[in-house]
Amino acid sequence: MRNYFYITVLSFAVLLTSCGKTDENMGIANTENSSNNINRKVDSLLGIMTIEEKVGQMNQYNGFWNVTGPTPSEGGAAYKYDHLKKGYVGSMLNVRGVEEVRAVQKIAVEETRLGIPLIIGFDVIHGYKTLSPIPLAESASWDLEAIKKSAAMAAKESAAAGINWTFAPMVDVSRDARWGRVMEGAGEDPYLGAKIAVARVNGFQGEDLASPHTVAACAKHFAGYGFAESGRDYNTVDVGTSTLNNIIFPPFKAAAEAGVKTFMNAFNELNGVPATGNAYLQRNVLKDQWNYDGFVVSDWGSLNEMIAHGYAANKKEVAELAVKAGSDMDMESYAYVEELANLVKEGKVDEALINDAVKRILKVKYELGLFDDPYKYCDENREKEVTGSQEINEAVLDMAKKSIVLLKNEGHLLPLKKEGQKIALIGALANDKTSPLGSWRIAAEDSTAVSVLEGLQSYKGNTISFAKGADVVTGKTEFAIELNVNTTDKSGFNEAIATARKADVVVMVLGEHGFQTGEGRSRTELGLPGVQQDLLEAVYKVNKNIVLVLNNGRPLTINWADAHVPAIVEAWQLGTQSGHAIAQVLYGDYNPSGKLPMTFPKSVGQVPIYYNFKNTGRPVLPSAGEVFWSHYTDQSNDPLYPFGYGLSYTSFDYSNLQVTVVSEKEVEVSVDLKNTGKVTGKEVVQLYVRDLFASVTRPVKELKGFELVELAADESKTIHFVLKVNELGFYDNAGKFIVEPGDFNVFVGGSSEAELHASFELK
Ligand code: BGC
Repeated sequence: MRNYFYITVLSFAVLLTSCGKTDENMGIANTENSSNNINRKVDSLLGIMTIEEKVGQMNQYNGFWNVTGPTPSEGGAAYKYDHLKKGYVGSMLNVRGVEEVRAVQKIAVEETRLGIPLIIGFDVIHGYKTLSPIPLAESASWDLEAIKKSAAMAAKESAAAGINWTFAPMVDVSRDARWGRVMEGAGEDPYLGAKIAVARVNGFQGEDLASPHTVAACAKHFAGYGFAESGRDYNTVDVGTSTLNNIIFPPFKAAAEAGVKTFMNAFNELNGVPATGNAYLQRNVLKDQWNYDGFVVSDWGSLNEMIAHGYAANKKEVAELAVKAGSDMDMESYAYVEELANLVKEGKVDEALINDAVKRILKVKYELGLFDDPYKYCDENREKEVTGSQEINEAVLDMAKKSIVLLKNEGHLLPLKKEGQKIALIGALANDKTSPLGSWRIAAEDSTAVSVLEGLQSYKGNTISFAKGADVVTGKTEFAIELNVNTTDKSGFNEAIATARKADVVVMVLGEHGFQTGEGRSRTELGLPGVQQDLLEAVYKVNKNIVLVLNNGRPLTINWADAHVPAIVEAWQLGTQSGHAIAQVLYGDYNPSGKLPMTFPKSVGQVPIYYNFKNTGRPVLPSAGEVFWSHYTDQSNDPLYPFGYGLSYTSFDYSNLQVTVVSEKEVEVSVDLKNTGKVTGKEVVQLYVRDLFASVTRPVKELKGFELVELAADESKTIHFVLKVNELGFYDNAGKFIVEPGDFNVFVGGSSEAELHASFELK
């Protein structure tokens, strides 16, 4: 086979020389990738590309045939294959594993005229084959180092499988537990969301993007996707500038500032304009105001979806609108590859727009080192060594333990005694080795998670009796199909009741199957799905000593459990090492330290419910029996569990809150924290601020700082925060960032209900 890559190197070097740029480090094959060098290389390469080749770089296809088998000769796969050989494909997604990636890369590099390597994308959302907790769970750790490490491990394992670009992190703030994709984000708060976005970007991309262990990251979905009306996925988004700038944008902006290499736009329309065709979002805000120099990929088929939105009449219009709006790469709409070159030739689209998009894409490919060695992610030995390695498994176990939130522990039922106990383990999820992998686990094999049963069995001192009780879902459990929830079959109840009756303690693992959240999995009810609530109540009748372990990808309305069950552990979907993490927490070998990143409502009618709400003009009950105030007549305004909430096996006392305005630019806050319990524990000390009066009203509380502090029993520590003046400002309704002088309250504590408070005046 002729080596076109080599020919390309030669012709490119000639081109550089003829341009007078004779820097000897500038051939494609050099490793000197400073940004100036890269820009020059990109410009030179662009100079020899045809319009079709340029547009090809803006085209991304899904993996399309068994690449190691016979080549496709007809249908959609043949069409894509033909495009790949012509250099009309810049990226592929869902091609994975060294063998497959090498095969497609070889076509791009050796069979196309210019030999430009593909960038290989994949949804490495919380791990590749070895899974860490779902992102919402990881966010409950508030442990930025652990989150960064988890992303780094995911990068390492996926990069060893040929992937060099992950479609993560999802940084969509959401206040709506009905929305299935809350499992994929960092919860409801823009401040915490921004910190976690940065941790994840740094974890994925590492110090050196050209390392074979790191991947380019992608901040998604820009923007507003988490505000889908009524929590229904893909639904319309209509939010004002204040919410957009103060709530939705901050994690995106933080990701951009942290150097995230790519952005993904979104399926939703925002205030009447689909995100994919939204020039305000992609050009004005992202590329102009934030000076972003990475590239924007569309969401899957989101260009064509502009037709259904009623924004573009046909594919040609789709391509024109999207490119003008700043979408650089088309994922699976075929709109750019089929229409853009003609649009340029007809003078409807300025070629400068194409050049800009292609430069952005090529730049990332250079930064990844793909031009130096397009097969650098294709090393079979590394793939074998890294996949499922001990290092990765240890990291995901560590992350899983840190993600668990203790919601209730009446009478110190937890931790469990390690010996002499009869434990009844009940619930289909307790013995499930697939559900804990959660949603977005495309590369992971079924049945590879450690179940709770296995986790508990690894402790030998107690007797464990398992009874399923009832299935949560029946039939196939797959990513792209609607699950059948078991709403009728209670045939296992009797066995579960009998098992519970004989036990000292009952551990019930209930909640959502891993695929009951995620994309397309919105719900109108937030209780325990199917017959699980009935199972819980039936077991409770015979044994009240219940530890309820929740598996779920979103906040649930578990009011009955909260009122009756003595101990509740929020264990989300914790990934491959799930069962071990849960067992270690139940036995007290790990003292839980997680705090909720999302408010748990008491009922669906309260949704959207979030801690950083506005006060309204009628916030409190004026006098007993009064009706004209902002409330529900059938439910309190309070959440079941507030944002930032979570218990420990020890207790913490906060005192001596001090607030000092050090200068016009800085306010210092300190507080004393004491571990008043009997064991070492970690506490997330949270700092909230309220700007009392402002030209645009401010929330009753806004998280402005947090610190994860470990203290031995009886130990005390003074925790210091510095509030920079900029952290006290906000975006006004014209989108301008302002800091207004005036009175502020400061709250410090272990949840968003922090009561310890002080005030200061900003002059
Ligand atoms: C999702 C994206 C994802 C893409 C590629 C879409 O359906 O919204 O988040 O990255 O598919 O798999």
